[in-house]
Amino acid sequence: MSAEARRRAYLEALDIDVWTPRGADPAGAMEEVEVAPQALATDWDGLRQQVAACTLCSLNKSRTQTVFGVGNQSADWMIVGEAPGAEEDRRGEPFVGRAGKLLDEMLRAVGLQRDAVFIANILKCRPPNNRDPLAEEASSCRAYLERQIQLARPKLILAVGRVAAQHLLGSDAPVGRLRGQKHTLNGGQLPVVVTYHPAYLLRSPTQKRKVWQDLCMARQIMEQPDQ
Ligand code: URA
Repeated sequence: MSAEARRRAYLEALDIDVWTPRGADPAGAMEEVEVAPQALATDWDGLRQQVAACTLCSLNKSRTQTVFGVGNQSADWMIVGEAPGAEEDRRGEPFVGRAGKLLDEMLRAVGLQRDAVFIANILKCRPPNNRDPLAEEASSCRAYLERQIQLARPKLILAVGRVAAQHLLGSDAPVGRLRGQKHTLNGGQLPVVVTYHPAYLLRSPTQKRKVWQDLCMARQIMEQPDQ
């Protein structure tokens, strides 16, 4: 049995919806990785404790602390970013640095306060020097995010940046191609909108117009989910 088949069997045994991005080959969505949590908690507190104690990948050795996620645990919107940076690793909360301030502004632009949404990352631990997550790190962490989604039951996921979008959707397309359209997870039940990462916007502010378009599309999906 391949590692991917084993992962899916684990997740199905744990009653976790297995993500199958539309139009993507699910077996190609992840690298071959051995790990999967044995008995994933089914409540927020238990999950938080499991994440805090996680040693599934080597990032546990360099982290200051895990960054579980923050916000409304039954939010309609879930924001998924890449991984904690230095400030997030220090404070234990996602998106609290400069990019986080811009994310807050992006959310406010569509009438959302930070504490109205749930904010999480693909990785719960900071990669050294803010390098991209390795495939095995993302794979180790994936069940935690899947469980967070299962517990929060958001009506929409906003994936910010290439890493979040590609890992969530099992795609290697650039973010510029993934944005501007509605994707879905969980057999078409959960809409996913992709937009640029706020850290990229800090470097390329002219792209803010496109982010605004993406946010408007997300808001419209929320208001008219059947369209
Ligand atoms: N960038 C992210 O993708 N996530 C964070 O939590 C902080 C910066």
